[in-house]
Amino acid sequence: MLFLLLDPIFRLNDGSNSPDADVATVDGRRSAYSMLLTKGLIRVGIGIPDNAEFELIGVDDPYHFASAGELSLFRRPLPSTNLKFLSTVMWDGRETFAEKTIHFDLSHQANGATQGHAQAPNPLTDAQQERIVNFETGLFTAQLYDHKAKSLIGGGANGGPESLSSQHFYLGIMIFSGIASHTSLLIRSFLTFSTDGWDCAAVVLTMHGPLWHEAKNYSIPSYLESVRSPVSTTSHRSAAH
Ligand code: HEM
Repeated sequence: MLFLLLDPIFRLNDGSNSPDADVATVDGRRSAYSMLLTKGLIRVGIGIPDNAEFELIGVDDPYHFASAGELSLFRRPLPSTNLKFLSTVMWDGRETFAEKTIHFDLSHQANGATQGHAQAPNPLTDAQQERIVNFETGLFTAQLYDHKAKSLIGGGANGGPESLSSQHFYLGIMIFSGIASHTSLLIRSFLTFSTDGWDCAAVVLTMHGPLWHEAKNYSIPSYLESVRSPVSTTSHRSAAH
């Protein structure tokens, strides 16, 4: 099915370059899903918010879809591991809500993903949301071995997912900074893999790979800074973990 591009990952609502693409033939699908096939990108369609501090003055979309009503934002799925250490949810922080905990943000996000990406007709129940969030916040991924240092979990070393899972959350634990803390170095050192081609498509095909949280904070730190509310993040995030 992968060869025919009929797998459920290939859908017009998010996997294609444009929701209007012609997917009647294999060649059509190869072209329609080229961003997913070659870069592992999913199209996130979002209109310009009412309070945006910018305006759209022109559109040059090679896929002939984007407009002020719905921009086409091509994004890699973020990893759904080490989520315990998040202080914002989504690349642009849009699932981060003032005065709410990360637990709430992730519950809300899970429902959005289910009704959006998966096109479920009905919202998740509270119990289903709870199970998803408990599952995803219980996943930890960490490097176990380094060619030079050898095992990172023996002889007093504190690497590996088990050690990571017992780290306490504090605001900024996942964010690159000039002076990296021991913990953020620990987490960051697990986050290396090829950013191109099928490696990333494979990440999409398994829903979410483990490796992109840190990259998110690294690539757009100033934007994330601007969308964070100082009050909600400091008072509620730290209380939540
Ligand atoms: C119930 C199912 C799903 C859950 C619980 C889920 C969970 C998540 C979470 C927690 C994030 C944000 C992580 C972070 O901010 O660090 C995320 C982002 C993302 N997910 Fe999913 N996901 C689901 C299904 C999917 C599917 C099926 C796709 C692709 C077809 C997908 C594509 C993406 C993309 C592209 C992002 C980044 C979007 C953005 O930042 O604008 N997700 N997902």
